[in-house]
Amino acid sequence: MEKQEERKHADKILSPGVKPILRVEKTSKDFSGFKALTDVSFEVQTNEIFGIAGPNGAGKSTLFNVIAGKESNQGDIFFRKKNIARFRPYKVCHMGIARTFQTPELFLSMNVYDNINVGARFGLSEKHEKQNADKIMDEVIELVGLTASKNVSAGSLDLFEKKLTTLALALVTKPRLLLLDEPLGGLSPHEIDKFVKLILHVRDELNLTVIIIEHLMNVLAEICNTLMILNSGAKICIGPPDEVLNNKEVIKVYLGEKNVKS
Ligand SMILES: Nc1ncnc2c1ncn2[C@@H]1O[C@H](COP(=O)(O)OP(=O)(O)OP(=O)(O)O)[C@@H](O)[C@H]1O
Ligand SMILES: [Mg+2]
Repeated sequence: MEKQEERKHADKILSPGVKPILRVEKTSKDFSGFKALTDVSFEVQTNEIFGIAGPNGAGKSTLFNVIAGKESNQGDIFFRKKNIARFRPYKVCHMGIARTFQTPELFLSMNVYDNINVGARFGLSEKHEKQNADKIMDEVIELVGLTASKNVSAGSLDLFEKKLTTLALALVTKPRLLLLDEPLGGLSPHEIDKFVKLILHVRDELNLTVIIIEHLMNVLAEICNTLMILNSGAKICIGPPDEVLNNKEVIKVYLGEKNVKS
């Protein structure tokens, strides 16, 4: 990926006057006494790419589940100034938040088109959008590059195409905020490059804000305007990726105490 190109991208997004699209305030999640999230607060600015990283079990996917209304939580979540913290998943989706899952969740016996249709039926809220569902689906299928595979059954797709299909399923709901949970996991370097370019492309084409959970720090450093690190359910650092990746606490979490320079 061309570094300069990506930087230009980031600079464009971080122009003065950007507004938060999402504000998470003191979100906590408890599973029968086990604290998966503790008092996590942060803001995501409109049109930025906001990265989330942290060790396995840090609470990253739980945070997405909470934002998407799949898990209840203590705390508030403001999306475009409306508190959505107690909304059910379909309502959150209708408000304009869509997500992909860490493991692609598809109906394997159904073809690509019908899978995406499920997303459209679930996620499109306005009557005129429902009436235009076929057109919206065709546009999204073309945007992600699945036109040639739309009649192929999801069970026979490779992982890359499965990920494209789950991305299309999210995009067809016409979101403003897209949550991507480890979209690059299991892909080859070439596929990672293609998928990252696609994320940037759809963000620009559809005027989206993106929150991406990833383990690949080099990718996060390249594409994110802001990076947040979670560890054991708590936010330990947030800021521009360059600063976050040089933070002592972050280095300690990833590399161990002995690698922290005094
Ligand atoms: N439904 C649940 N019931 C009980 N415990 C859960 C539940 N969901 C998640 N947890 C626990 O909460 C913690 C955080 O899980 P989560 O899946 O959010 O981590 P993660 O940061 O996404 O990890 P990974 O990088 O492996 O995907 C883990 O210890 C997990 O076992
Ligand atoms: Mg996870």
